[in-house]
Amino acid sequence: MPTERPIAGVILAAGKGTRMKSDLPKCLHALAGLPMAEHVGRALASAGCSLIVVIIGHGGELLQAGLPEGRYTFCTQSEQLGTGHAVQMAELALRQYDGPVLIAAGDTPLLSSTELMELRTHHERAGAAVTLASCCLKDPTGYGRVMRGLDGRVTRIVEQKDANDLERSVKEVNSGVYVVESSVLFRLLPRLGANNAQGEIYLTDIVAEAARDGLRVEACLFDDPSAFAGVNDRWQLAQAATVMRERILRKWAMNGVSIEDPGTTFIDADVVIGPDTMIRAMTLLEGNTAIGAGCMVGPGTQIISGTLEDEAVVIQSVVNRATLRKGARCGPFAHLRPGTILGERAKVGNFVEVKKASLGDNVSISHLSYIGDATVGAGTNIGAGTITCNYDGIRKFTTTIGEGCFIGSNSTLVAPVQIGNGAFVAAGSVITRDVATDALALGRARQEDKEGWAARWRKQSQVEGS
Ligand code: UD1
Ligand code: CA
Repeated sequence: MPTERPIAGVILAAGKGTRMKSDLPKCLHALAGLPMAEHVGRALASAGCSLIVVIIGHGGELLQAGLPEGRYTFCTQSEQLGTGHAVQMAELALRQYDGPVLIAAGDTPLLSSTELMELRTHHERAGAAVTLASCCLKDPTGYGRVMRGLDGRVTRIVEQKDANDLERSVKEVNSGVYVVESSVLFRLLPRLGANNAQGEIYLTDIVAEAARDGLRVEACLFDDPSAFAGVNDRWQLAQAATVMRERILRKWAMNGVSIEDPGTTFIDADVVIGPDTMIRAMTLLEGNTAIGAGCMVGPGTQIISGTLEDEAVVIQSVVNRATLRKGARCGPFAHLRPGTILGERAKVGNFVEVKKASLGDNVSISHLSYIGDATVGAGTNIGAGTITCNYDGIRKFTTTIGEGCFIGSNSTLVAPVQIGNGAFVAAGSVITRDVATDALALGRARQEDKEGWAARWRKQSQVEGS
């Protein structure tokens, strides 16, 4: 039951994340190609938060630069005095806002809008002032424990370091995700002290403060704790990444994509794939890669923000910011670099590198070539070992090859140079001047044959050797 009230979001991401042992702020560490804080931000946005405040501190500039522009409002917490103090930093950014605030830590990347919507619905239905997400853990070590009175109502949260043995035996923990009415939040926060084991201003203390004021405090108990897993070190990051990876693979499988081996397939969060595409083993699809329907990708392939139109095929290759039009093929062992476009049904074969080159439809470069800074017209065949010499050590130059050309094997095309439509280049040529339409260019020494030379040489060598 979606509610009409607007909702704001706050992401706590100012902490250093000491256990990551990293120069990067913790919440900037990525899984499935996106920083942890961005995963949390997306969950908040899809749960309906139109205004999202990110509290930054440690490595704040890096974090701000690593998140998409325009989506977040950043507030700086220059000293990390605790989670309660962190939320106080959002007060100015939320001064025009009156309503529920969804608060989440930037180190819980597996949160999705499902849990957040459920939490919010619980909050609205109960008419609560504060609602926290809780779950029961077999081993609650490290988490704050949810304390309830005899009537079952939540009275306070006790942090691990402040808890006595009896309190530590409680299995219901605070997940670190809350909905709090803004008026309540900014009224209670200034009252919180730091009289606790860590000398910090705990956000969790607003629970006791609200209960003391007679406000309604709710804990929304979730059966499955996995979405709330916090990432504090790199092993937890790797484990969270594994969970997210499986979620993404499952989503695509359910959308009609064949995943040959989920154990060795990595698909970033923003990748899109059409139905009846086959993703073979040991394949990484990264960044903003977009793959059409009926494609075949892998085995052993990495695609970084590449585009494959329908029925394209990529086998054991690296495709980096390149486009394959419908039915184009590349590999095995091809390297398509940024700015490359393969026309429809074009074919790039083994040990071919293409950089910033546009190949027309049905172009074929089947073996051992480097084509860079070039345009190749439709239907042209480029023989094995052809090289475009695009660089003189200082500047780059372009090669233009027309339609229906035949470039003989082992040709060297010294740019800038143009080959006209329908022209032939003889094998082994070094082409330094433009070639006219339909011409044949021979750029090599003429062959010379010496009758009987080899036999004479062998005979001579035997005499000298004996
Ligand atoms: C917190 C909760 C705990 C809960 C757990 C769930 C408090 C006091 N405790 O503990 O009850 O069970 O989360 O994962 O809130 N941060 C700031 N500024 C600060 C301190 C922290 O922005 O001054 C940020 C951190 O970057 C982090 C988040 O707040 O993203 C949570 O802080 P962390 O120190 O990890 O809290 P926990 O000890 O995990
Ligand atoms: Ca944490």
